[in-house]
Amino acid sequence: MDLPRYERIWLWFGSGSLLFFLVVTGFMGVYMGLHPADGMAHTVEPERVEEVAPFADPGVYQTGPNEFEARIVSFIFGYTPNEIRVPAGSTVHFKVTSRDVIHGLFIPGTSVNLMLTPGHITEYTHQFKQPGEYLILCHEYCGSGHHYMQGRLIVE
Ligand code: CUA
Repeated sequence: MDLPRYERIWLWFGSGSLLFFLVVTGFMGVYMGLHPADGMAHTVEPERVEEVAPFADPGVYQTGPNEFEARIVSFIFGYTPNEIRVPAGSTVHFKVTSRDVIHGLFIPGTSVNLMLTPGHITEYTHQFKQPGEYLILCHEYCGSGHHYMQGRLIVE
């Protein structure tokens, strides 16, 4: 092959940096045990999700005058519970996990936009001020039933 000299240099540079970053991220992921940190500090065994706290009792629990904890387990293709009811003005602390593959939990019209990884507890807090009905959607492709995976959140 007879490539111009600069093209060859850039090709080597490109492949070299690709390799370098693959090695660096591989090293961090495997040997240092680093994972995306944001909201994923807590872990749970995906096989035993339904036997251990807090997911042995999924549901909505009142934790304060206007505060609720929503413990949700996602699976192919749904959520337990798949309907949540809270009074208007409630602050909801979401604690969510997956018992099988990666799912999402997205509530259009709010800032709730979570990625659910088996083995991790994803936490997020949001205040629902106005009464209304919200859709809960899975926005991470998870298989043939992905498009039907949804729930409802009703603010009364
Ligand atoms: Cu679950 Cu897509």
